[in-house]
Amino acid sequence: MFKRLPGDEARNLVSTTPDTAVVFRPAVVTTPAILTIVILVWRILAGLVRTIWRHPIATAIPVVPGAVWYLYGWPPAACLVGIVALGLVAWAFIDRASFTRWVGYRLLAWWRLIWIYRRHWQPVMIVSGLGRHLRGRDYLPRLGKVTCTSWADLVTVRMLKGQAVKDWADRTDHLAQGFGAKSCRVALSQAGRLTLTFPRNDPLSEPLPALPVPEEPTVGPVEIGRCEDGRPWRLKVHGTHVLVAGATGAGKGSIIWSVIRALLPAARAGLVELWALDPKLMELSYGRDLFGPRYAATPEECADLLDEAVCVMQKRAARFAGLQRSHTPTADDPFVLVVVDEVAFLTAYQSDRQLRQRISAALATLTTQGRAVGVGVLAALQDPRKEVMNIRNLFPDKIALRLDESEQVDMVLGDGARDRGALADHISPVPELGAGVGYIRLEASPEPIRVRATYVSDDDIRTMAATFTGGEDR
Ligand SMILES: Nc1ncnc2c1ncn2[C@@H]1O[C@H](COP(=O)(O)OP(=O)(O)OP(=O)(O)O)[C@@H](O)[C@H]1O
Ligand SMILES: [Mg+2]
Repeated sequence: MFKRLPGDEARNLVSTTPDTAVVFRPAVVTTPAILTIVILVWRILAGLVRTIWRHPIATAIPVVPGAVWYLYGWPPAACLVGIVALGLVAWAFIDRASFTRWVGYRLLAWWRLIWIYRRHWQPVMIVSGLGRHLRGRDYLPRLGKVTCTSWADLVTVRMLKGQAVKDWADRTDHLAQGFGAKSCRVALSQAGRLTLTFPRNDPLSEPLPALPVPEEPTVGPVEIGRCEDGRPWRLKVHGTHVLVAGATGAGKGSIIWSVIRALLPAARAGLVELWALDPKLMELSYGRDLFGPRYAATPEECADLLDEAVCVMQKRAARFAGLQRSHTPTADDPFVLVVVDEVAFLTAYQSDRQLRQRISAALATLTTQGRAVGVGVLAALQDPRKEVMNIRNLFPDKIALRLDESEQVDMVLGDGARDRGALADHISPVPELGAGVGYIRLEASPEPIRVRATYVSDDDIRTMAATFTGGEDR
């Protein structure tokens, strides 16, 4: 390390590279001891105040018994600890849910903050390139609060000045691996602050059985499954068009059938008409009685049915013109939902050019003009590429089930969706684990949400057909 120079003292010299002639002479400024002590004491005090402020309960756990012990001796302190412990155990037995919410998850969050996030924060930030080590100092994003929910850790972070959300979104894999999670999602909570979501377990790993058919007729957002955070997944179908993209076996059928199931009471009440296009003959044919005459399978029939839907739409638009700008379903003007399974069979893969153009034009007309007059399209397809589905952007709402390639995720959910955690290409191809699992994006937020649709079994469809066919208003 040291290099001797003629007439100089080696102990005052430091060379970073011994083989070169470059020699640095360190400038030594002696700091008075009192200053060092004051800074140290200040730091300890600030740290203490911060810890008490942030973790009052965790601080009280050792401090209160300690104080009682100091003031009154150990027996009262032991009694106090015993009574509190007993109380907590009783609480946990009597009302597990509230105990978990108020105590369990808070303790877990504190433990994970100390043991996982704070312990690994510095190396993960430096190695992933989100922090900088400059001239012996670490410049790190500030680790904030950790909150535990039943399935994930939510970690708030204050970004370094000058960082962008994309810098973090590009490194979700580094973050997930660094903190021992399977994945990581990045969401902007406020300017300069992020919330990182690290799932601890997968609440959607079990198939969900079909939900009971709603008692009240509804066309509003229909409940068709569950979101990752445990909330019901309600899909808006009236006033929009929905495109479901997923590789073969991804569970597109479960979304279609869950929607149909939820709309059946409204269909019986005459507020909804379900029109079905089933070019593959494998999906909707199973419950075709539910659709009555509004079922088509061959491309010619499908084209005719679509033209009919366009006709209904145009007549309605002519009647509504100048009178109303949005649609409320009534028995006279029901909400028409055109369900199309494997839409690419009718568009891209259709060999008859004329038929293909007719169908594409009808679909484009419905998706551009149908929303306000109560005609919606729910379409499913396997391959979301533009060559296959050139009108995919006419669908305001899209659902990405399991996809084969990572690039397809952004094609369905929009730019940056995969970077923000919509890992639709990582969904398991095992039906029990991954069928019906997908990602959606809500209008209000760019963050993708992981969801799973309920599985409407063949028996369920048979029962639905038996129950709702007779009374359907045709
Ligand atoms: N929500 C679900 N939960 C659990 N399992 C499901 C779910 N949806 C579908 N499955 C299972 O996955 C299999 C394939 O589902 P489905 O036929 O709906 O896929 P698909 O996307 O329509 O495929 P394809 O494009 O080949 O028609 C079903 O037979 C069923 O066993
Ligand atoms: Mg299918």
